Amino acid sequence: MMPIGPLMKEHRLIEKMLQLMEKEIEKMKKFLKANPLFIDITVDFIRMYADRTHHGKEEEILFRDLAKKELSPNHTKIMEELIKEHIWARTTVGKLVDAKNQYEKGNVKVLNDIVKYLTELTEFYPKHIEKEDKHFFIPVMKYFTKEEQDKMLQEFWDFDKTLIHEKYEKVIENLQNK
Ligand SMILES: [Fe+2]
Ligand SMILES: [Fe+2]
Repeated sequence: MMPIGPLMKEHRLIEKMLQLMEKEIEKMKKFLKANPLFIDITVDFIRMYADRTHHGKEEEILFRDLAKKELSPNHTKIMEELIKEHIWARTTVGKLVDAKNQYEKGNVKVLNDIVKYLTELTEFYPKHIEKEDKHFFIPVMKYFTKEEQDKMLQEFWDFDKTLIHEKYEKVIENLQNK
């Protein structure tokens, strides 16, 4: 398997989450109410899975190794865009968390902001994923030998292994700080 195999598989799970988010947005618009628990689960999914696990492998392994290669101007440009887009997603999730916290404190006016940030995220990810799946992942594999690709795939598995521990260490840390 090429190292982009697991990344593309992860895109498919992110897409399933996006569908659930779209349904939730419709509910919020219909009933003019937010479900903070759903937002918590969404934020955890995006932060821990889409960002830490998935963007983590992209940035800390794939992009790191690509940066050592002589990329075409087009591939350099796309990689820079992808990094900026990851930053945008992180910032938007942060804004969503702030809005949800305010909503829980009784400020129902932020419902519009919650809908706005959730909508922005559901519109953003499909474009970002398409750029990677259709215009980046497969063509950039040519910069790596078969051996380098195998090594990268192994590094991906090793990266994933650490995350369950990281996740629950963070859960305990957050509870201790409450
Ligand atoms: Fe990405
Ligand atoms: Fe991705």
